[in-house]
Amino acid sequence: MDRIAIEGGSPLFGDIPISGAKNSAIKLMAASLLTSEPVRLTNMPRLADTRLLGRLLARFGTQISESDGPDGQQTVLHTPEITSSFAPYELVRQMRASFNVLGPLLARTGHAKVSLPGGCTIGARPVDLHLKALEALGAHIDMHEGYVFAQAPRGLKGAEIEFPFVSVGATEHALMAAVLAHGTTVMKNCACEPEIADLAECLNAMGAKVSGQGTTTIVVEGVTSLHGADWSVICDRIEAGTYAVAGAMAGGEVRLTRVRPELIAILLDKLVEAGCEVERGADTVTIRRKDAKIRPVDLTTDVYPGFATDLQAQFMALMTLADGESVIRETIFENRFMHVPELSRLGADIRVTGNEARVHGVTELRGAQVMATDLRASACLVIAGLAARGETIVNRVYHLDRGFENLEGKLSACGANIRRLKGDSPIMEEE
Ligand code: EPZ
Repeated sequence: MDRIAIEGGSPLFGDIPISGAKNSAIKLMAASLLTSEPVRLTNMPRLADTRLLGRLLARFGTQISESDGPDGQQTVLHTPEITSSFAPYELVRQMRASFNVLGPLLARTGHAKVSLPGGCTIGARPVDLHLKALEALGAHIDMHEGYVFAQAPRGLKGAEIEFPFVSVGATEHALMAAVLAHGTTVMKNCACEPEIADLAECLNAMGAKVSGQGTTTIVVEGVTSLHGADWSVICDRIEAGTYAVAGAMAGGEVRLTRVRPELIAILLDKLVEAGCEVERGADTVTIRRKDAKIRPVDLTTDVYPGFATDLQAQFMALMTLADGESVIRETIFENRFMHVPELSRLGADIRVTGNEARVHGVTELRGAQVMATDLRASACLVIAGLAARGETIVNRVYHLDRGFENLEGKLSACGANIRRLKGDSPIMEEE
């Protein structure tokens, strides 16, 4: 398995271009199943997760072509006919978001058999809300031997769906199913993440009638069919936030380009509180840390526009070197502190009680071997390694490859001493 070696201590100076968002790209790819015409996605990140989903879509009859077009990396997905509506365990277990093909398959063909995704390292992550939403839309759902069998032979029907709590995946799943339903669907207590608005707007470009995206109530007027479209994937706010924290951690001056600063507003405010200078441009953000000291900052993760759970681990890495104690609360996932023991291997002082981590800043981190447990935890260990004395080796780098395009290249272009040590091919685990 590949590993990443980082020799800490070099400040970062330079530009980091931000890629298209993984968590939008994979939903947009699934949405392409809703039409028999080609969907061209530009600003596409090339990631292990997009490749994996491509493999799954190919089983359903999707023809996929990747190229570098005039607007950067693009992927064209074309499913003239759905040749199979079966998503096997071997593929779904490797990436839980692939469960979201259930809705589009059902909406387009009236039936689907999709493996349940199972739990993962950050929490149990059930899909009950997804299934209840599909049932509300008239699907008949059965479960046998770890598979969901969904049927709606006469099509889905518009309905009122009120989510009992906010779920990104369930909102997106219900949205993708509702666009081809008969009649109007009103979805309440929806997630407002920018990737959901990106999906809704792409669906509208395909001929859907969705309104209210980006708010807690989304209204979908069902249409009988969708057509092809060109869509540019929204920038990856989590990648942007990760490099912003990396800049703060390593010191120097980093400029993020191809970014929408408003999507990481809360994180940038926290970096200012921590003592960084932040300059927001139209599509750039510059982060400077000239002060030797990082100030402690408390945070509580929340649904958008709150502090993203996907940036919690990275910010914790920064707080390990703060001049005092910070309190970090995780409210979205029940087990998202797996990076704590690994940060401790680097010399961090963190106590966890329930969903709260108290981080006592230390004067220095020291390089060590650490193990990545999930995608964002891996990024946190790389960030810590940038500031640690000596060499940090991050094992299980395949987690990083799922969601960060060319991470070593982007950081080393800014002066980080980081390199990949090649190993055997990984067997991907669910995340
Ligand atoms: C999405 O996961 C993202 N994944 C996650 O990013 C992100 O952390 C999360 O949203 C929150 O922002 C993708 O977009 C592929 P949820 P999702 O449904 O949709 C519970 C990354 O690193 N829940 O909003 O799965 C659930 O267990 C990943 O890129 C139910 O109980 O998140 C969790 O506690 C990690 N039943 C909470 O809701 C359900 O049916 C929020 O989960 C659905 C969710």
